Amino acid sequence: MKINTILTPAVVDELYFTGKTTIAIDVLRATTTIIAALNNGAKEIIPVGSLEFVHKASGDTFGGKTIRGGEKNMKKIDGFDLGNSPLEYTRETIEGKSIIFFTTNGTKAITKAKYSTALYLMAFSNLDTVVNKFANYEGDFEIICAGRNNEISLEDAVCAGMLISKLREVRDDIELTDPALIAYTLYWKFGKNIPALFDIAEHGKLLKENGFYDDIKYCSQLSIIDKIPVFSNNSLKFLN
Ligand code: MLT
Repeated sequence: MKINTILTPAVVDELYFTGKTTIAIDVLRATTTIIAALNNGAKEIIPVGSLEFVHKASGDTFGGKTIRGGEKNMKKIDGFDLGNSPLEYTRETIEGKSIIFFTTNGTKAITKAKYSTALYLMAFSNLDTVVNKFANYEGDFEIICAGRNNEISLEDAVCAGMLISKLREVRDDIELTDPALIAYTLYWKFGKNIPALFDIAEHGKLLKENGFYDDIKYCSQLSIIDKIPVFSNNSLKFLN
């Protein structure tokens, strides 16, 4: 099995993903929030890559129970129902609803990978379930890290590296590309203490400076959800 890691979406285009199996990661905070929202009963998440599209889609586009979530500069966007905090996506707020979701980096990475044959989402919160899914997987796969503003972000690379490391514990046929080896190495250097990782990572520091302490705490939890979002027919739902 060969694993490649795309450390920033800037290095690939949409067509790169045709025929590929892909796992998308945006630990802070988009994929963590999407996993939390689906776990709290959201019907589906529709990830969008541009704000223009969100504004075009009206409240009843997806059957009358559509809300909008996401962020710009970490903050809720004017006219949106929710921001990008996993803690906002409570069962009371979102159960049964379709959520059109836009974030600066996360949903751009997800939509960039939309032509993958299979596209899954991961964060620290569902990592072990992804490990189990790929423990016996036959074939190669890609990990796309959302990064930040076309740069690499430490926490996404470390999360990718943790997946690689845990897979290496259960199978001995894993071949890594150089970027995957970089992610794996970063995991060994920075991945043993996730709160400490968020203390030094740029995006972690920024979220703290903006008061999102509880989000940071939530995003640092390892394997608290045993489900994997999968992208199909333009939306994300949990894999059965
Ligand atoms: C993003 O997609 O850029 C992030 O999820 C930003 C954030 O933390 O709100």
